[in-house]
Formats: sequence, C-alpha cells, structure tokens
Amino acid sequence: PADKPMKPSPPTADRVSALRWHGDALELIDQRRLPHEEVWLRCDSAAAVATAIRDMVVRGAPAIGLAAAYGAALAVRARRAAQGAAWRDGFEQDLRQLAAARPTAVNLSWALARVRAAMQQADDPVHAAAACAERLHHEDLAANRAIGAAGAALIAPGRAVLTHCNTGALATGGYGTALGVIRSAWAEARIDAVYATETRPWLQGARLTAWELAQEGIPAALLADGAAASLLASGRVGWVIVGADRVAANGDVVNKIGTYALALAARAHGVGFMVAAPLSTLDAHTPTGAAIEIEQRDAGELTAFRGQPVAAAGTAAWNPVFDLTPAALVDALVTEAGALVPPTAAGIAAQLEA
Ligand code: MRU
Repeated sequence: PADKPMKPSPPTADRVSALRWHGDALELIDQRRLPHEEVWLRCDSAAAVATAIRDMVVRGAPAIGLAAAYGAALAVRARRAAQGAAWRDGFEQDLRQLAAARPTAVNLSWALARVRAAMQQADDPVHAAAACAERLHHEDLAANRAIGAAGAALIAPGRAVLTHCNTGALATGGYGTALGVIRSAWAEARIDAVYATETRPWLQGARLTAWELAQEGIPAALLADGAAASLLASGRVGWVIVGADRVAANGDVVNKIGTYALALAARAHGVGFMVAAPLSTLDAHTPTGAAIEIEQRDAGELTAFRGQPVAAAGTAAWNPVFDLTPAALVDALVTEAGALVPPTAAGIAAQLEA
C-alpha cells in the first residue's frame, strides 16, 4: 500500500478513482477490498498490470483499457532498458499478455492498438506510449461527462432509476458511464431515487456502486438482483441505466451478467432501458453479439464467498460473468457523440465514422 500524497492523472473532481499514473508505475485501488479498506497496489511492470486486471483489482471496461495502456507504457520502457535495439519481440509478448487478461471488454484491445499506433509514428516510443495512455485517460473522462449530459437529457423528472454492476469513476477514467448519467441527472434534479442491484457474485453494486454514490452524496437503495423485476413492475422506475463491455455493430450489448434479465423485465413493464458507453466500447468489427466471447470465471466465485464455502463440497457451477442483450431491447444507446434512440446499425456506424 502506498500512503504518500498522490497526483492523479488526469485530475478529476471525483471523490474516488481507480488509477493513478506516476510515470514509472501505475497505482490501482484494490477494488476487491472496497468499501472497507482503501489500499493502493503499485504495478511497475506489464505483467503486474495483467495480473491485476485478471484478478479484478481493477475492473470495468474503460478502466481495464486504461490500465492496459499504462501497462504497455511500462512494457516499452522496461524492454528498451533491458534489450536495447531488440526490444520489439518482448514488447509484443507483453501486449499479448495484457490483451489476454480478460477477453470480453473491447476497450482492452482498443487501448493497446491506440498505444501501438502512437508509438509507430514517434521518435521516442517510451515517451509516446506514456503520453498516449495519459491522453486516453483524459479522453475517457471527457467522454463520460458528455455521456452524462446526453443521457440525463433523456430522463423526464419525477421517477427513480435502477442501475446494475459498477459503472462509475471506479470503472472508468473518471465520472462514470451509466453512473455518470445518474450523477448528471441527479445534479439536474431529474431523479427521485437511485436503486442499485447488488450484482452477484462479485457484488460490484453492493460494494462499489453504493459506496461510490455515497461518496458523491447521492442516496441509493440496494436490492438483491432477484428483486429487480418486482421493482420494475411497481412503476417507481422510469429508466434502467447500465454500461457495456462491448457493443456490436448491430447494437447488441454485452454487459455484466444479469443485464439481459433487466432488459427483459424493463420491456415487459414499459420501463426505458438505456446503455451508456464511450465510443471505445463500440466494436465495428463484430457484426452481432453472438460473436463476442463471454468470459467464464471460476466456479469457486459461486460456491464460496471470501474463502468460506457456501455450497456443499463438490457442487458444480456455471459462472458466465457477462450476458448478451439483443439490440431490440435497448431503447437508448448514449455515447459521447450523442444519444441513439433507438440504436441502429446505421446510427452506430455514423457515430464511429464521425
Ligand atoms: O466484471 P466487471 O466488474 O469488470 O464488469 C463490469 C461491467 O460489466 C460494467 O457494466 C462495464 O464494464 C461498463 S463499466 C463503465
């Protein structure tokens, strides 16, 4: 744990953040230990960053993309110092390790491609990689503020909203995507109440979203994932607002497991379903959601909790950590380029081209 004063990059007004860049190391708040302990882990190699992504120290599609970009900056610096002119092979190996850390969020490979492209045109690849990672960090924060404004504008005052997983400053370069919309809408007095699902099995909603909203002074009520359909049936909620790990070219959305169930329940009860994501989460190369790899994690995440067995010894488990929501269930897709109501392949292509 580091306890020295930090100068985060980029500077934000957020009370919480996921990453701090120091030029020779990346610090990550250990999200596995929140909200009870705020411990910062120092990563001074690409391998350490890849392990942190895989082990959920840092999570959320934009945040893992940014962590990987800083990891690439650490990799080029180390490889050039150790291997001189022959640094490229080792560097490519490091990029592959970072890209493989988690398979579903497209932000990871997108960020690595951006760093690689910035290095290709540069005389000083070490400086170019670090400068690119910092630029991506600033861009993500700016994108989220724009998403917040565009998403909030869709919300008619007087109802509650429901969100899933954690899509806030902890999951991004700052401000948040779906949580950014909620922050903007709350500031504009468009929201009566915020509900957050606990988001099993990692409890991103209970541990991270409820805490992050409390830090920002926004009261939120937690509910068990299984209670969401009843809440939507009650008429209290105007919009379900979620983030995304990857949006296919046709508007299919892959996001935290349970998102699809929320979209079905929202449609059944006439509740709006909004997906908030930066353009870096839109994947023009994947035609539909069916082509997206859904990460499967260890059965132990379901059969035990923090090392304590929950299920009987030997119980098998199915643990996909994301699911696919068909585009037809999405009422609005909000990016920094504006709101698509509803999202269409043509609208997505136009935003990406612009
Ligand atoms: O497994 P996680 O915690 O990385 O999953 C995060 C999500 O599914 C988020 O909804 C998504 O990454 C969007 S974060 C702005």
